[in-house]
Amino acid sequence: MSKCPFSGASSTPLTASNGAPVANDNQSRTAGARGPVTFDNHYLFEKLAHFNRERIPERVVHARGSAAYGTFTLTKSLADYTIADFLQTPSQQTDIFLRFSTVGGGQDSSDYARDPRGFAVKFYTKQGNWDMVGNNTPVFFLRDGIKFPDFIHSQKKNPRTNLPDPQAIYEFWANNPQSLHQSTILMSDRGIPLSYRFVNGYSSHTLSFWNKDGERFWVKWHFKTNQGIKTLTNEQAATMPAFGAQQDLVESIDKEDFPSWTVNVQIMTEEEGRNYKINPFDLTKVWPHSDFPLIEVGQLELNRNVDNYFAETEQAAFAPSNLVPGIGASPDRMLQARLLAYQDAHRYRVGANYNQVPVNAPRCPVNNYQRDGAFAGLNPALAGAGANFYPNNRAQEGEPAEVPAVAEPPMPLEQDAWLDIYDNRDDDNFSQAGDLYRIMNEDQKCQLVSNIADGLSQASQDVQEAMFAQYDQADEDYGKRVRQAVAARIS
Ligand code: NDP
Ligand code: HEM
Repeated sequence: MSKCPFSGASSTPLTASNGAPVANDNQSRTAGARGPVTFDNHYLFEKLAHFNRERIPERVVHARGSAAYGTFTLTKSLADYTIADFLQTPSQQTDIFLRFSTVGGGQDSSDYARDPRGFAVKFYTKQGNWDMVGNNTPVFFLRDGIKFPDFIHSQKKNPRTNLPDPQAIYEFWANNPQSLHQSTILMSDRGIPLSYRFVNGYSSHTLSFWNKDGERFWVKWHFKTNQGIKTLTNEQAATMPAFGAQQDLVESIDKEDFPSWTVNVQIMTEEEGRNYKINPFDLTKVWPHSDFPLIEVGQLELNRNVDNYFAETEQAAFAPSNLVPGIGASPDRMLQARLLAYQDAHRYRVGANYNQVPVNAPRCPVNNYQRDGAFAGLNPALAGAGANFYPNNRAQEGEPAEVPAVAEPPMPLEQDAWLDIYDNRDDDNFSQAGDLYRIMNEDQKCQLVSNIADGLSQASQDVQEAMFAQYDQADEDYGKRVRQAVAARIS
């Protein structure tokens, strides 16, 4: 019998999944030297069967991503605005996990797509995990979640050809002028970041804070990259390796060149929200800095790579519904759709106990009456012997009980609101797209128009005409230049 030169060299015994040492992982048992593999090769079967189950469904959006651990350091107390435990005392530190992503491509697509970049941060606070599941853009394409599946279908590959489909992309936008602000950002010079270290992150949504007096404030979060914004043109991006942003993140952290972001908030009182000229809960709009200046509150640093991409980055389950006392949602209707969608996605993709996977597990005690399910390996300590129902008479014995002190104050609604379907499709889709166009320099305008023309010139004439009309409404010069650029591509 031949012996592998290295067999037995390791001091760590190789085992099957039941822990039993494995004598030979190079050859199957066979009936004779040239004979078939026999039915008693249970270790071989275990190995093949586990291999068949190595993949879980990829995320339906944001499938390609890179992540790292780090630290959030508070530099300004937010105690006047929120009871959130991790926002009280300057120099307080909170562990975080940040996953960057592209949106439309599959797991093995390029890091250099012209696409928003996901910017999802999990804050492991002492009162539970707060997830800020944002993007590198301050706005989004839509203001109602009911449109999200249609939008994503139109931006992904054509279902018949499996090829990019500029007609579908622009046909959706032509029918949804509310996308113009975000599509202007996407087609701008910022549409393809050099790598993840060079993007800003935004909550995009309006969230809320509440303080110890029960006062509520509306809040937007802005994470400004300390590395500066760096971007690529389409031509430069085409020369980059598909995995370039992943590599850049891993290598910069490995060599202790830790990327960091300055964390800011914009804050609006309820009263200001009621009277503001812009609907503060419309995700297609920013709050202009001149009205609501950025308030610097902290620093976020990434300083530790993951050890296991699948276990950590792939199984990470971020959810806008992961809120903590002092941080709440808002009437933003996109946000409400997301409060439901993500937990559902995680149950499908990772399983009912996705919050027991270490990367998702809170770093504070978890006590509740949820029980069992697949892979319920970390049921709370009392879960077996203790009560599995609530209310019960066992608070003295350490059974979990409600904490009324963290109740969220009532959220104001419009007075005498009627439940109905309200058409908000034409709620000023153009002013802020025009504002952005007008702050661009000549080179940025040229890049924007050229990037639009690349795709729009491949769309049908009716779609082109509808888009020209939208650019005209944002800014006359914007419309004129896009018309010219598309005409030049077609001629
Ligand atoms: P300001 O002049 O105060 O701010 C302009 C902002 O635009 C800066 O934050 C700048 O980011 C950012 N910016 C510049 N070029 C681009 C680009 N190609 N894509 C995305 N952002 C860009 O103006 P206002 O606050 O009045 O906003 C004007 C427009 O700026 C808005 O319509 C919006 O499109 C854009 N913007 C506004 C933000 C806000 O929260 N008010 C946030 C981001 C963009 P930086 O400082 O990183 O260079
Ligand atoms: C991922 C749905 C809007 C940012 C996802 C996933 C779903 C989803 C199902 C995959 C989750 C998973 O399997 O782990 C939706 C719906 C939306 C919406 C229904 C609109 C109603 C947005 C918006 C933003 C955003 C507006 C940013 C402001 C992200 C990010 C991820 C993600 C960053 C990746 C999280 C990660 O890194 O794991 N979204 N989304 N989404 N979404 Fe959304």
